[in-house]
Amino acid sequence: MSVSAIPVIAIDGPSASGKGTIAAAVAQRLGFHYLDSGALYRIVGLVAGERRINLDNDLEVSRIALNLNIKFNGEDVWVDGREVSGLIRGEVAGAAASRVAALPGVRAALMTLQRNFRQQPGLVADGRDMGSVVFPDAGLKIYLTATPEERAQRRYKQLISKGVDASMAALLQDICDRDHRDSNRAAAPLLKCSDAIEFDTTGIPVQSVVAKVLQLYQDRQKEQ
Ligand code: DC
Repeated sequence: MSVSAIPVIAIDGPSASGKGTIAAAVAQRLGFHYLDSGALYRIVGLVAGERRINLDNDLEVSRIALNLNIKFNGEDVWVDGREVSGLIRGEVAGAAASRVAALPGVRAALMTLQRNFRQQPGLVADGRDMGSVVFPDAGLKIYLTATPEERAQRRYKQLISKGVDASMAALLQDICDRDHRDSNRAAAPLLKCSDAIEFDTTGIPVQSVVAKVLQLYQDRQKEQ
């Protein structure tokens, strides 16, 4: 079977819109592979920061992106043999990710790595450009949104539950800043593809969103 025949569900949307939770749950229900593309940008941001590389230097940061040995196992992530699952989820790696993600060379360097996740029996990929750039032929494209206030609230609960101190006002500001950077960069800006189905998850429980995506996927399969 050719790679293009392997099904892909692309789930894009802004920071903290619930993409990761929904995509992982949909992948699990379908027995599909799961790509958390944001984790790749977070890893590159983290490592570039640790090596004291200027986060706006496309050439140097791309070199890092090309040479990383990344392994995923469920929610756990290793880079060059080191477990970085907790480190990449922090706000520092998140802010660095948003900067390196604006660099065209870095985006190109991560392309093959992302496309290699497309394996039998299928893939659920989440990010900003899954439907628009990385998997433009995805059979189902979803664009998840939620109000910035709701997204800040979700992130707040997530951090507090992990025992991390957080401020709602600072999180809301951070989400608005990141939305602005992700939507206004020249390279693959965050946008809803014309063939993506938009779904506002504000106030909607996770299980309902998962059920809706599964339903849409089944409907698509019947149409084919
Ligand atoms: O989804 P996330 O918060 O883990 O993503 C971290 C950053 O990486 C975010 O600022 C946007 C960027 N990103 C991107 O530009 N393209 C992707 N496919 C995924 C994430």
